Formats: sequence, structure tokens, C-alpha cells
Amino acid sequence: MARLKKLVQNARDVRSVLPHTSSPLIALYNVTEWCNYRCGYCVGSYYADRDMMDLDQIREVLTGLRRLGVKLLGLAGGEPLLHRDIDGVIEIAKDLGFVVGLNTNGTLVSRHLEALKRLDSLTFSIDASAEVNDQMRGKGAYKDAINGMKLAAEAGISLQINTVLTRDNIDELEAVLKLGQEYKAPVSISPVFENVVGQEREGVDELHGDPLAPVLEKIIRLKEQGYPVRFSKKTYERVANWPDPAVDKLPERVEGYPRCVAGQKYIFISAMGVMYPCALHSQPPMGQDCLKMGVEEAYRALERPQCESCRWPCMIEFHSMCTWELDAFRSQFTNFLQYRLPHMLQSSAWVAAASAK
Ligand SMILES: C[S@@+](CC[C@H](N)C(=O)[O-])C[C@H]1O[C@@H](n2cnc3c(N)ncnc32)[C@H](O)[C@@H]1O
Ligand code: SF4
Ligand code: SF4
Repeated sequence: MARLKKLVQNARDVRSVLPHTSSPLIALYNVTEWCNYRCGYCVGSYYADRDMMDLDQIREVLTGLRRLGVKLLGLAGGEPLLHRDIDGVIEIAKDLGFVVGLNTNGTLVSRHLEALKRLDSLTFSIDASAEVNDQMRGKGAYKDAINGMKLAAEAGISLQINTVLTRDNIDELEAVLKLGQEYKAPVSISPVFENVVGQEREGVDELHGDPLAPVLEKIIRLKEQGYPVRFSKKTYERVANWPDPAVDKLPERVEGYPRCVAGQKYIFISAMGVMYPCALHSQPPMGQDCLKMGVEEAYRALERPQCESCRWPCMIEFHSMCTWELDAFRSQFTNFLQYRLPHMLQSSAWVAAASAK
């Protein structure tokens, strides 16, 4: 019986990897909307809403997502380590067979280290060296992130860094990439997204159009020089060719861009279990409630957003991977060989040494 179940799940996994099937491969789940930071550029508004699913509800939703074929699960928020049962969430997700990544500001890593060891990757948010980083993310944010990274690295956890690009940190990219080299952590660099709840942001100097172009060229150059830039060169070239600096999304597919797979191969789940086609469309009336309808029904009822292309590298990279573009695979494979594989070999050497004792 167990073998049959495994075979069925394997078949679902194969189906979700195929580009045109109605079966999602990637889910981003905001486990809580609550946060202990107030980064000026934050994509959400993480101050008041503390509602979140309990562990039974989370198990129900994650089980449904696995049945649909989701294999790659990103845990984020708010600050995901503020979820009252985050250790249990990680355990459920890993036991269900997801490849699990978690994005954190680093503050609570020491309290959850044992659970975090089960992750496939742990991403820290660092935008610059200490001074500029703290201007962007708040006083003490750099130290919190570095302390968390050190603990996680010592615990053998595979690391990544997420860097948000504004005019404030364009001269800081080498510093972050050197940190990436030191911690064997690929760095995802993305210009700031719009705020999903439409809040006005003060003091965030966004990068668009002409001023962004040389920065994108520089990122490509740094990647070619061997710095650990996570996304492919082609992704950054596409961002550089974005046709209208006045908008972030367009209703038509931009020439040369991959097909948008939001709502098909990639979905977003809110802290209360509402499914949306895309993190950047995570507001009513787009959502479908997984707890009321069941996960499969919620997925079938999802509507397509009104956009077909957007200018954010992480989205472009998702779309390229899910539609089997070679450049995205090549870039991910290089990251795997350079960072993940040595880490896996090192971990298995530790396990072998520990079990030989
Ligand atoms: C929303 S946060 C949630 C996880 C956690 N609180 C953290 O900061 O790592 C996930 C990632 O999105 C990034 N982020 C937040 N607001 C953004 C924005 N407006 N544009 C681009 N990335 C953003 C953060 O820096 C972080 O790396
Ligand atoms: S970016 Fe992360 S840490 Fe900063 S306010 Fe948003 S959710 Fe909190
Ligand atoms: S183009 Fe796709 S990924 Fe980008 S914002 Fe629109 S729905 Fe989301």
C-alpha cells in the first residue's frame, strides 16, 4: 500500500514538472503576516494582522498541495519564525516530501535551529553592508542577519541571500556578493516590488528605467566574473529590456519574455489559507479559500490575473524554469554544483563520520 501511494505521488510529481499541465510545481506560503521589523520597502503590511492557520489546518492545506503535485515550497511572511508552531510547520512540510526553503530576517534563528536543520535552504535578507543595510531594513538588522547566518552555517544548513535593490544600495552589490561567497550562498538580487496592499511608502528610492540599466549590466558582469548571482544572465537581460519604466506589469506578454505561469505552475497561499495565483495579486477578490473549498477546488477556481509580464527577476526566473528554458536550468545547475553539492557532500561526510563513531 505504501509503495502504491509512493508511486502515485511520483506520478503527480512528474506531472507538475511538465510545463503545460494544470498541476502546480511551486507554492509560496506566507505562514504569518506578522513581523518584528518595519522595513520601509516591504511588499506587505505586517503590523497588525496576527491571524494564521493552526497546525491541523496547515497539515490539511499542505497535504492538499502535495496531492496537487507541488514539490517546491517557500515559507515566508511576515517573519515566518514568528509563527507559534513554525517548527511543526517545517516538520509537516518535510514529512510530506516537499523541498522546503524559508526566508528570514535572522532574528529568531537560534530558537529554531534544530527545526531549521531540516530545511533544504534558508534565505537571509541582506541588502548591503551594515550601515546601508540598516538604513534600508532598520537598526541592527545587519547584525541579526549575520548572527543568524553564522549559526545556520555552523549547523550545516544550506544558505541563500535575498537582496532588494533600490537607489540606496547600488554601490553595495559586491559587498553582498562577497558575503555570498564567504557563506557559499547564492544571492537573489531583485529591484523593489510594489506594495501589494497599495500602501504609500516613504523614503524608498525605487530604481526604474535608465538608472537601472547600468546596475543590471553590472550584475551580469559580476556573474560572469564568478560572483554567486543566483538568477541567470538572460533574466537580467530581460529586465533590462522592460519596455515601460512607468509600470511594473503589462497586460500583454513582452517579446522575448517567458510565459507567465502564475496560477498554473506557481501559486501563493496566505497565512489564513487563501490561495492566490501570484504573491503580487494576493488581495481579494482574486483568492480562493483552501479551508472552505478544499485545495484542489481552490486551485481549479483560480482566475488569471490581468497581467502577462512583469519586470521582477524572481518571477521571470520562475517562469523560465517552469517552461523549461535552458538558461534558467544552466544557472540553477551551476549554483547547485558550486554551492549545494559541496554542502551535501560535506553533510553526508559528517553523517558518515558521526555514524562511524
Ligand atoms: C516579505 S519578506 C518575508 C521574510 C522575512 N521577513 C525576511 O525579511 O526575510 C521575503 C523577502 O522579500 C523581500 N522583500 C520585501 N519587500 C520587498 C519589496 N517591496 N520588493 C522586493 N522584495 C521585497 C525581503 O527583503 C525578503 O527577502
Ligand atoms: S521585509 Fe521581511 S523583515 Fe522586513 S518588514 Fe517585510 S516581512 Fe518584515
Ligand atoms: S506577470 Fe505573472 S508573475 Fe508577474 S505579476 Fe503578473 S501574474 Fe504575477
